[in-house]
Amino acid sequence: MNSDFIREIDPALVPKKKLSSGAEIPAIGMGTFGSDNYDATTIAHAVEQAIRMGYRHIDCAAVYGNEKEIGEVLSKLFAEKVVCREDLWLTSKVWNDSHHRVEAACEATLRNLQVDYLDLYLVHWPFPNFHAPKVSVESRDPNARPYVHEEFMQTWVAMETLVAKGKTRHVGTSNMSMSKLQLLLRDCCIRPACNEMELHPHFQQPELFHYVLGQGILPIGYCPIGSPNRPERDKTPDDTVPIEDPVIADIAKTHRVHPAVICIKWAVQNGQIPIPFSVKPEKLFSNLQAVVEDPLSREEMQVMKTLDKNCRFIKGQVFTWQGATWEDLWL
Ligand SMILES: NC(=O)c1ccc[n+]([C@@H]2O[C@H](COP(=O)([O-])OP(=O)(O)OC[C@H]3O[C@@H](n4cnc5c(N)ncnc54)[C@H](OP(=O)(O)O)[C@@H]3O)[C@@H](O)[C@H]2O)c1
Repeated sequence: MNSDFIREIDPALVPKKKLSSGAEIPAIGMGTFGSDNYDATTIAHAVEQAIRMGYRHIDCAAVYGNEKEIGEVLSKLFAEKVVCREDLWLTSKVWNDSHHRVEAACEATLRNLQVDYLDLYLVHWPFPNFHAPKVSVESRDPNARPYVHEEFMQTWVAMETLVAKGKTRHVGTSNMSMSKLQLLLRDCCIRPACNEMELHPHFQQPELFHYVLGQGILPIGYCPIGSPNRPERDKTPDDTVPIEDPVIADIAKTHRVHPAVICIKWAVQNGQIPIPFSVKPEKLFSNLQAVVEDPLSREEMQVMKTLDKNCRFIKGQVFTWQGATWEDLWL
């Protein structure tokens, strides 16, 4: 890795999407989950490089274990006036062990990130089922239970309170199915501004995707490149590899870019906000550059649509309860 490689893209050139609140969110963010491959300091350093490069949207979460280090970087960049707080979109997420203590969890995140407010706070998973970091896929929380809507609504009311208190500008969901979202939209006072969900060319989730958009909720797409370096525990023999898809490879050849870049272009043009991860400046740069130049043609977009294999990579096995399979999580 060449740590001196910092090219810049004017953040004003990066497209933005409008939320139902009228706020604008950059159409690409940087992911910060290192899939157990990188330590917190390395990821925080990459966040610094990304912001210097022109990224203005960072996707964090308490469970990624690096918000403190990212906060140190943010504080330095604010002090150096590289960026000001208002020009940055910061997302974080309440982890499954804190559904009953949302405010305390959010305050810990704010302290760690060294900011007064978040732009978006998500419920990371709709289940309070807990597992320790880095456990094997066979590991189960003995207290794990199926989705209980009344309990989720208690968590959601606490999320709404954070908006009222100015601790986050927006709230949102992650890893929701359509049926769970329907219940939430029926019962909530503040609607989710965004829904973070797995979205890449081999897992396009057309039904949920269009439902979310139709409800005025912006889809944020995680694993936009297909998370090729995700932990082994998150891989199963039937999983496909989007960046090895021959059709994507062909389109990439035409555009003279890596297939990962085609996945990012597709994502933004398709209507979701991708949050690709890398700690490598060249890759961070290619991903940001992907959204400001050389879009895919209408024909290429049509071909990309046909590549869906309904192949979910983040199955969530560790969150299942006794007698359940991972498919039950997504009903
Ligand atoms: N809400 C949720 O439950 C949830 C779940 C999963 C992920 N997320 C979020 O989504 C983010 C992204 O997901 P992810 O990290 O699993 O998957 P991803 O962004 O699809 O894939 C990341 C991998 O792609 C490689 N890559 C990135 N840019 C590249 C480029 N231009 N050319 C070639 N390879 C490239 C990176 O390689 P190197 O390692 O070599 O840099 C990295 O290992 C996470 O960091 C996290 O913030 C959220």
